[in-house]
Amino acid sequence: MAAAFGTVFMPEMAISWFDGSSWSPVEMVPSDSLTLHPGAHVLHYSSTCFEGLKAFKHEDGSVNIFRMDRNIARLNQSSQLLGLPDLDTEQVARMITQTVARFADEVPAPPGSLYIRPTHFGTEPAIGKAAVPSTMSCFFVLVSPVGDYFAGGDKSLRLLLEDQGMRCAPHMGMIKSGGNYASALQPIMKARNEVQADQVLFCPGGDVQETGAANFLLIDGNEIITKALDESFLHGVTRDSILTLAKDMGMQVSERQLTVDELLERAAKPGCEAALSGTAAVLAPVGTLIYKGQEYAVGTGGIGETTLKLRTALNDIQWGKRADTHGWLTRI
Ligand code: COI
Repeated sequence: MAAAFGTVFMPEMAISWFDGSSWSPVEMVPSDSLTLHPGAHVLHYSSTCFEGLKAFKHEDGSVNIFRMDRNIARLNQSSQLLGLPDLDTEQVARMITQTVARFADEVPAPPGSLYIRPTHFGTEPAIGKAAVPSTMSCFFVLVSPVGDYFAGGDKSLRLLLEDQGMRCAPHMGMIKSGGNYASALQPIMKARNEVQADQVLFCPGGDVQETGAANFLLIDGNEIITKALDESFLHGVTRDSILTLAKDMGMQVSERQLTVDELLERAAKPGCEAALSGTAAVLAPVGTLIYKGQEYAVGTGGIGETTLKLRTALNDIQWGKRADTHGWLTRI
């Protein structure tokens, strides 16, 4: 059996430390351990954010990173919103490309890829700083060869619609921070145990937002409907890529509010599809919605034609089989 997503790591990672005034020279260090002061800000006040992006091997042997600039921009924004020291974005790009280049031979061929996890967190040993940002931090780039994120491969997902709780504090949703993932864990575990759901789709007050691990897209015929960007949810890079490709294909993209009532009404139509988008999830089909104890099949309940078409278009660019007309790839 293949190893679970994100459990195998390349033996070295690039690392740099901010001491309050400058970033240390980048080093490649063993990736199996990290020494931190027990009073480090991150361990007490969750001052951590990260990114998820991928490198792909093309048929000509080259290795290409997908939308690196966009992920760096989001990491920068997350760092600022958490009060972490400013990143040196040029150094961040060099650290990512250097780490991928170091393990270029280990990048799996399609359908696999090398998952890249840049991570930034507060290291100042100061447990009194609950209401003050960390002045010191660490930034590293860890990489992991991966296959499918969802263990069932292309099996359509079951989502529990949660209209009471939230994934995270509403003003924090656009930050890719560790705390947001931690705060979604309880509802996800409950949904797994009670209704065998794969994920929870958070819909506070009936507003369809996102799941704990990916953005949500409803595909109704030629139209894609998904929540318009605001600070309450993660601005997915894959979400943006899929919407761009959908527009390229002449589809109508509606970024607007979607209520649970409208979602359930549309989902019942035979031609309707739903999917989760994310670096890890790619574009994973959603087959069943569970709400207030009732199950609703989305369209036919299986993987839809449009979901497949959009995912193939994305994969083809990532794998070098289709022209990269948007300039999304960085060749190492
Ligand atoms: C990603 O899609 O890259 C994420 O960070 C989600 C995580 C649950 C793997």
